[in-house]
Amino acid sequence: MGDDLLAQIRLGGAVPRHVAIIMDGNGRWALDRHLPRPLGHRAGMNAVREVVEGAIEAGVEVLTLFAFSEENWQRPPTEISALMDLLEEYIAREVDELREQGVRVHVLGDRTRLVPGARAAVERVEHDTRDGTRLSLNLCISYSSRAEIARAARLLAEQVLAGATKLEDIDEAAVQEQLYTAPWRDPDLLIRTSGEQRLSNFLLWQLAYTELLITPVLWPDFSRRQLFEAILDYQRRERRFGKVTA
Ligand code: FPP
Repeated sequence: MGDDLLAQIRLGGAVPRHVAIIMDGNGRWALDRHLPRPLGHRAGMNAVREVVEGAIEAGVEVLTLFAFSEENWQRPPTEISALMDLLEEYIAREVDELREQGVRVHVLGDRTRLVPGARAAVERVEHDTRDGTRLSLNLCISYSSRAEIARAARLLAEQVLAGATKLEDIDEAAVQEQLYTAPWRDPDLLIRTSGEQRLSNFLLWQLAYTELLITPVLWPDFSRRQLFEAILDYQRRERRFGKVTA
């Protein structure tokens, strides 16, 4: 499925090495079908599997998914526990296949807030996939960008107080090194589903020069075809990073 688009991607030039996605619209997808919201999230979990496979096929190296924000802790407890259960289920079901596919999973965010079962699952998937080299899959869970930047500032301040870093050495690279995303380059492409035109506290530092693509498709309907179309759209763009064309 999508082989025609994959062939076009191969001819289209550079593939975005790092793709980030705000997976939005699970609730509306369920509402449209008169289903409870957790069933929308369950359908969203299947879309995650589809997009991971599509990313590997297209040659994407890093896929960063916004699965649960710090703000999402304010949702009704039943929805939070359904999402935590889904996370555990996703990991239990997918961990072997992820490892076989060469996917390395990292979970970014404040994991101290996760229930013990979800936290253990997160540690398990990170451990069991640690040798993967084909795709880095970053799941942002209990993640917010402002909290991440504040944490980086705190870590740098601690280093200065301990005498390990000099004040004058704190520059952009030093801040970048303290972010959860330090091991990876910034996203080349950000996709947001369900048509909402905002960043919702996601990767605010890292998205400085990222190409944005907003699609009306609701997350559970997002398939590898949509991913391939987004990559083709990216390949038609000219990235200047604030400079003029050579
Ligand atoms: C936004 O839709 C989506 C979420 C808050 C959760 C995303 C979770 C998944 C895709 C499934 C689980 C993922 C993994 C990795 C196991 P929304 O509920 O805000 O939708 P709405 O705006 O239509 O209400």
